[in-house]
Amino acid sequence: MEFLLHIPWWLWILIVLVLIAIRDVFLQRKHTITHNYPIIGHLRYLLEKIGPELRQYLVANNREELPFNRIERSWIYASAKKENNYEGFGTERDIYAHHHIFVNNAMIPFSIDANHPNSIDKTFLPCAKIMGEFNKRKKPYRPASVINVSAMSFGSLSAKAIESLNKGVKMAGAYHNTGEGGLSPYHTYGADIMFQFGTGYFGVRSKDGSFSMKKLKELVDDHSFIRAIELKLSQGAKPGKGGVLPGAKISKQIAKIRGVELGKDVISPPNHSAFTNVEGMVNFIEAIAEETGLPVGIKAAIGNLEQWETLAEIMLETGKGPDFITIDGGEGGTGAAPPSFADHVSLPWVYGFSDLYKVFLNKALTERIVFIGSGKLGFPAKAAMAFAMGADCINVAREAMMSIGCIQAQICHTNRCPTGVATQSKWLQNGIDPKLKSFRLAQYFKTFKKELVEITHAAGYEHPCQFKMSDIEMNVDDHNLAKALNKTYAYEKTPVPFFGMQNLKDCVYLGGKN
Ligand SMILES: Cc1cc2nc3c(=O)[nH]c(=O)nc-3n(C[C@H](O)[C@H](O)[C@H](O)COP(=O)(O)O)c2cc1C
Repeated sequence: MEFLLHIPWWLWILIVLVLIAIRDVFLQRKHTITHNYPIIGHLRYLLEKIGPELRQYLVANNREELPFNRIERSWIYASAKKENNYEGFGTERDIYAHHHIFVNNAMIPFSIDANHPNSIDKTFLPCAKIMGEFNKRKKPYRPASVINVSAMSFGSLSAKAIESLNKGVKMAGAYHNTGEGGLSPYHTYGADIMFQFGTGYFGVRSKDGSFSMKKLKELVDDHSFIRAIELKLSQGAKPGKGGVLPGAKISKQIAKIRGVELGKDVISPPNHSAFTNVEGMVNFIEAIAEETGLPVGIKAAIGNLEQWETLAEIMLETGKGPDFITIDGGEGGTGAAPPSFADHVSLPWVYGFSDLYKVFLNKALTERIVFIGSGKLGFPAKAAMAFAMGADCINVAREAMMSIGCIQAQICHTNRCPTGVATQSKWLQNGIDPKLKSFRLAQYFKTFKKELVEITHAAGYEHPCQFKMSDIEMNVDDHNLAKALNKTYAYEKTPVPFFGMQNLKDCVYLGGKN
């Protein structure tokens, strides 16, 4: 024993290295690299592990990361913190890049007098259309904000994150989409709620996993802040892919909220069991609207248009159908999806939306639908483009996550989110202060709306619903090949009936008034 104490420190290091080398060469068979290059082979695995962080912080330039580059992230962080979000010396973007968009400014901007709603509140920007108005639902709803929180369930996000979003959304006068994981206690701080369910029917499911109208009706009756219902058909990151919620992740609380059994794997199939074809879906929508009185819409990623054509025909013939349609882009986010789906299945937002809008435009149905867009649209100029194409509202998911502290670590699927936003680990979410984070979400939304209003005024309009396709140009290649949206996507959007901001302000269906 005594002689151990006399071994110098450098010899200890040598002994450890020799032991690692013996293990690498003789005892392990898993890694060829460490077998062939003992000890130094480990450096490869270490660098591979910390590579993304090194690139993000040290190597990547401001424009090159995906899904969101540093310019975009910094704008959200600064806006959320109410810091200076300006940039000096001119744009850092490559404005000649493919798909770069330009808003055509007016010679003389739109001017507002002292009594205009936007002089009183620079962030006042409600939806120009009313959900459920055409279909004469009992409780029509005009979202009080054109930007809202997109579907992300409790389960994929932490309790503290959902609480922060809900409180922030209330401050910003927006709505909060529950995602398909049911209505949790963290959704009940008073913000307007859009209740979503998917093929798992979580929160509104019978014991056998089928849809329960009784449960949905009770849920809506018990929670007056539920303003609309969204039937999820698919989402951009994994359209047509069901999901498994592993039993190990189902806590007592999650089991109760979702209406599933504790500790047992829960399968969400790719298809709905409540209907099998488009006609059945329309009947299902009508039954829900009839029972609850609320506007009912669908969310989907777009690809093949055949069934959408059928939907438009049924809507035209019957005068029935969804009150709103949420179009998610293939670039959309998710808690977890196989890359083969996230990378390749379904169209990017601009292609998917333009294809779908034309289906309804051709049958003169656009006026009765509220179009909601999601897929990296959480920036004022991108939103202006979406409005010009026919969107009436924008849903944001990952941008909202970033406003409450997400750093784009891209490990939502591992339960190890370092910021506590997308994890169920109590320890990791303890760092979130919902009071502060809710303020940040609200501030991001307010800044977003204020800048969107300013861009709108610069283009000579009062409300972004007045943007026409020809007001936005997109680089499709070089110089003279830059085309206005109507030329690129070959349609003109239906003008949205708009009678001034004051008219929206006075609307009895305006949301946010609980
Ligand atoms: C963590 C996470 C969870 C999500 N959960 C759902 C969900 O439950 N239902 C759904 O329809 N979409 C879900 N989405 C997709 C988003 O609602 C949204 O459509 C998509 O991310 C595009 O918006 P974004 O680009 O602003 O993130 C989720 C996205 C994320 C990042």
